[in-house]
Amino acid sequence: MLRRLHTEQPESFAFTPANQAWAEAQITKYPEGRQASAVIPLLWRAQEQEGWVTKPAIEAIADMLGMAYIRVLEVASFYFMFQLQPVGSVAHIQICGTLSCMICGAEDLMEVCKDKIAPTPHTLSADGKFSWEEVECLGACTNAPMAQIGKDYYEDMTAEGFAQLLDDLAAGKVPAPGPMNGRFSSEPLSGLSSLKEYDSGHTKYNASAQLATDIGDTVKRIDGTEVPLTTPWVGKDGTVAGRSPGKAQPPKAPETPKPAAKQAEEAKKAAPKKAKPAAKPAPVAAEVEETAPETLGAAREGGADDLKKIKGVGPKLEQTLNELGFYHYDQIAKWTGAESAWVDNRLKFKGRIERDGWIEQAKTLAEGGETAFSKKVDKGGVY
Ligand code: FES
Repeated sequence: MLRRLHTEQPESFAFTPANQAWAEAQITKYPEGRQASAVIPLLWRAQEQEGWVTKPAIEAIADMLGMAYIRVLEVASFYFMFQLQPVGSVAHIQICGTLSCMICGAEDLMEVCKDKIAPTPHTLSADGKFSWEEVECLGACTNAPMAQIGKDYYEDMTAEGFAQLLDDLAAGKVPAPGPMNGRFSSEPLSGLSSLKEYDSGHTKYNASAQLATDIGDTVKRIDGTEVPLTTPWVGKDGTVAGRSPGKAQPPKAPETPKPAAKQAEEAKKAAPKKAKPAAKPAPVAAEVEETAPETLGAAREGGADDLKKIKGVGPKLEQTLNELGFYHYDQIAKWTGAESAWVDNRLKFKGRIERDGWIEQAKTLAEGGETAFSKKVDKGGVY
């Protein structure tokens, strides 16, 4: 399925004041310069508020995070959990169409959707109240067939029960989520065969369904007033641990570099990864005049060091380094800037020596020390 921005978009987007405060608090979770890490929570909150992710929402979030619009669009269009088209004003129905649900009647549920909502998924019903889609396994296979509606799961459904459920939702009711065939949770359909003593004294519904019923906001859009804003990582004085007081101010959005400048910065960072073998040396190496380091024709007596203990050096790179005449940590530890540039210009992907700090790592290893990465290699945790 093509995931593109919808052809019709609202004029603007703004978080509600409470959601705005929530979003700004999320941003403070991440270190300075890493605010982009908040992109998914912010997109999700925008969807919880609006029902779907609009172009103005993508742009507003990009501005908050100092990201290029295209970067946020990439995230929103990559993850299927983000709806890129309008959804029903009452509910968007997600029918699980994976194995267990399919053999237990998911197709019947989708027929109900086609009949009562719209013949095709991601299409609004005539009254605009509902939309639907088929999704992959939602992890409630023992209660197949099931659907996620709003925030909750409706399980063990029949076509008739599901049709009634849609009517109830349309009438403004919020049917209790959970199994719809009388099961408490995911016990055998024929009833408990063991642990029967636990089959008494429990709540009316299983814990998930009970909580959902108590909260009662299954299909409610989130405006941020539901739960008090909690930001335990922000101190009473408004600072965030590990940051200078002057910089950590939770109520404010992070500094937002201009998109164009940000794009240039990102392009610069991406350059070494994208470089092809025939490409010119990356700027880092090109600016430094190269000098051939001293090399060896073979490893010294006692054998070569395991260069794969240097983070960033895999089996292929180790082989390349050996072919260039480098077998030992102390050889790499001694590289000058010009020598490092010489080696870098002979590697398929440039910029790794500096980016991964090979020389510093090699110095530690040459002195008989360990790095966090070499410890992982020793434990067999790197393949
Ligand atoms: S197959 Fe439907 S929830 Fe797993």
